[in-house]
Amino acid sequence: MVFFNAKSISSLVVGGVLMIQAALTGVEGQAWRAHHGLTGAAFQTQFNNYVSQGYRLTHLDGYGLNNVAYFAAIYEQTSGPAWVAKFGLTSAGYQEQFDTLVKDGYRLKKVNGYSVNGSERFAAIWDKSSGAAWVARHNLDSAQYQAAFNTYVSQGYRLKHVSGYAVGTTAKYAAVFDKSAGPKFAARHGLTSAQYQAEVTKLKGEGYRPVSIDAYTVNGQNLFAAVWEQTTGPDWAARHNLTSAQFQAEFDRLVKLGFKLISVSGYGSGSALYAGLWTK
Ligand SMILES: *[C@@H]1O[C@H](CO)[C@@H](O)[C@H](O)[C@H]1NC(C)=O
Ligand SMILES: *[C@@H]1O[C@H](CO)[C@@H](O)[C@H](O)[C@H]1NC(C)=O
Repeated sequence: MVFFNAKSISSLVVGGVLMIQAALTGVEGQAWRAHHGLTGAAFQTQFNNYVSQGYRLTHLDGYGLNNVAYFAAIYEQTSGPAWVAKFGLTSAGYQEQFDTLVKDGYRLKKVNGYSVNGSERFAAIWDKSSGAAWVARHNLDSAQYQAAFNTYVSQGYRLKHVSGYAVGTTAKYAAVFDKSAGPKFAARHGLTSAQYQAEVTKLKGEGYRPVSIDAYTVNGQNLFAAVWEQTTGPDWAARHNLTSAQFQAEFDRLVKLGFKLISVSGYGSGSALYAGLWTK
């Protein structure tokens, strides 16, 4: 297990050779950074470097390819409450960290499930912000997730983030809900690439903008889970089915136009594909 946090950074052991690493950076002067295609070791090194420069990790996505875990991350150079991030956690390790951190007054901001060698791993970000009541669930299959979603939404919770991953040949979900105020939201999971594209287009017509994307591969099939909010705002862009090079090119093009990456997810079998969301 590898882990790190903003206060005490652990040493890290990762087997294997350092693989392709593509770096994405915002234009000079912009206080945010994004990277994809990082091995655990490369991610840890980069994380240490950014944390020392006052960046906070705002988004972390793990994905397994050929039995190796890779990460995509977004950092912002902002102040804020104490925060902790961990990755490479087993189910039991995640639960243990969760219990400890919640006892210490942290709330879960993001949880990302991913699978490596057919078993699930978790990456998560917590912070000590105060705020509305929240709940988090993980290791739910599609039906269990839908049932939890219905229950929490009927109790006034909103879905903040959902992540899909494969455990063997079954899709599992991890999600964070809270009772914060906000615009109407929409959520979908288990969408194929074509269904996701159709939903983005349909919901756009109804005034929804995507705010969170997670793509995952189960049994060789690429699936999408996303959250939208019905709100006006600056221009946004959603892209998926991009290779690493295509993602990099799209990133560069959009950043030059003033867009900022807000959500990114790696997926696929064998070679990586990426889905991302940008906003101005
Ligand atoms: C996956 O399995 C291979 C072969 O057993 C092993 O070398 C590798 O370390 C494993 N990867 C992870 C991330 O556990
Ligand atoms: C993904 O993109 C490739 C070309 O890069 C295309 O051949 C393929 O049909 C696309 N798949 C989906 C599901 O859109």
